[in-house]
Amino acid sequence: MNRNLALEFVRVTEIAAINSAQWMGKGDEKSADQAAVDGMRKMLDTVACSATVVIGEGERDEAPMLYIGEKVGGGGPPELEIALDPLEGTTICANGGHNAISVMAIGKKGELLHAPDIYMKKIAVGADGVGSIDIRDTPTNNLKRLAQKKSCLVSDLTVVILDRPRHKELISEVRNNGARIYLIGDGDVSAAIATALPDTGIDMLLGTGGAPEGVIAAAALRCLKGDFQGILVPRNDDDIARAKKMGVDDINRVYTMNDLANGDVMFVATGVTDGSLLRGVQFKPWGAVTHSLVMRSKSGTVRWIDADHHFDRKPVY
Ligand code: FBP
Repeated sequence: MNRNLALEFVRVTEIAAINSAQWMGKGDEKSADQAAVDGMRKMLDTVACSATVVIGEGERDEAPMLYIGEKVGGGGPPELEIALDPLEGTTICANGGHNAISVMAIGKKGELLHAPDIYMKKIAVGADGVGSIDIRDTPTNNLKRLAQKKSCLVSDLTVVILDRPRHKELISEVRNNGARIYLIGDGDVSAAIATALPDTGIDMLLGTGGAPEGVIAAAALRCLKGDFQGILVPRNDDDIARAKKMGVDDINRVYTMNDLANGDVMFVATGVTDGSLLRGVQFKPWGAVTHSLVMRSKSGTVRWIDADHHFDRKPVY
């Protein structure tokens, strides 16, 4: 994949972030999301590629834009597939909370899992935890192995978990082991990435969140040489039917990081609100400043890109 494309794609998340950040703290999730979708959809057509959305805003009948299967891009080679979330953390943005991002993972045809929009049980660690995780095993054993791998005590580890009633037992098990917990209201993509970045203080992600977010997180962790595993968690027959429709034969399958995101993948994200991963959009009298992360699995290069956007010299998206 042409390395310059990564810098084209970051322009897409930058605009989605600027658009949605204008809705920060206004309590209107729908408008925040719509603003991100509109910006992302328009900007995607400025990138020279022929791409298909494989993870997006939903099925064609429920999402008019950025739906699964939609063709995007300016046309011509290369042919790509995109897993995207114009606003990961819609509630965060609407409430003016931490860690809302605009995000995309890009691969060639067949490299990103076409995950159904159902839940996925997840475990993620950074490069120093590779080889220590097994999602079929207990949180206790995973914590013990990670501590061993990192040459520290379980009580030195911090685990990030979505604050949900479904995680009550998980949270008490982690606490009983003496590990620290960072509970988050939303946004398990940036939480998964935080396990693989220095200075975040996060060692492991555990718990159940969206399967589409799992694919995006796996793409990021491939770039960062971390590790990720997931198992789909259907809640009912509808979820099983959704999974089957997306080509899932074995609902109990353990998805490794490479099953979710393979080949030469790219990852781009721009902060919408301030977070541990990225600063949010800052508005200025002349425009806005954005902070983005751009990574490629092939080279392992991690770029942090700050951009000044002068609204008087830019078309409005
Ligand atoms: P949105 O981008 O749809 O707002 O998702 C936010 C999120 O917190 C994800 O990061 C996470 O995977 C999922 O929702 C968890 O789902 P739920 O809120 O149903 O527990």
